[in-house]
Amino acid sequence: MAATNSNPCRIEIVGGDITRLEVDAVVNAANPTLAGGGGVDGAIHAAAGPGLLEECLGLGGCPTGSAKVTGGYDLPARFVIHAVGPIWRGGAGNEEALLASCYRNSLSLAVEHGARTVAFPAISCGVYGFPIVRAAEIAVAEVAAFLETSAEIDLVLMVGFGEETRSALETALASLTGTSGPE
Ligand code: APR
Repeated sequence: MAATNSNPCRIEIVGGDITRLEVDAVVNAANPTLAGGGGVDGAIHAAAGPGLLEECLGLGGCPTGSAKVTGGYDLPARFVIHAVGPIWRGGAGNEEALLASCYRNSLSLAVEHGARTVAFPAISCGVYGFPIVRAAEIAVAEVAAFLETSAEIDLVLMVGFGEETRSALETALASLTGTSGPE
């Protein structure tokens, strides 16, 4: 199916380690200090090498819901977009809107930097405890909405690291595109 502005099939759900993906930009699930951490943050820093942390430490941090760009260093990706997701505290603290803005802001930065292929982890779905099914719905809806308005992104890979997350992403995409869900 040809990729068109209104065609969310410019979204693909994949599994595996995001650090190995050959895309223009990899999105990191960072924290406000941008000083690294565990989870996908730790994996990206380990794969990118020390230059990534050095650049991050010069950025002055990043507020929740926002994102900042660095080089990709030893990663296959040219850029790392460090998005800071919300910590899930029950849902009354604007967590859903903050999570949505992570995806929107990351894609805006990708366009600004000429990155046409972008890979996202499931932001906030690990240490930050966001309910995975709801997070997947928000993530897919936000990415699809952005792609409807932008022809500058060719492909967004959404990485489900582990079966539960991958299945949630596939189900969210299937219900958005009206196709059958994961087998
Ligand atoms: N590739 C792709 N996805 C991964 C990888 C990887 N190598 N490693 C972990 N993940 C997945 C997790 O399984 C989860 O689905 O990334 C998603 C986000 O989980 P976390 O990395 O724990 O991030 P988050 O929940 O947003 O918490 C952010 O954790 O690592 C710290 O510094 C980080 O303080 C910040 C917090």
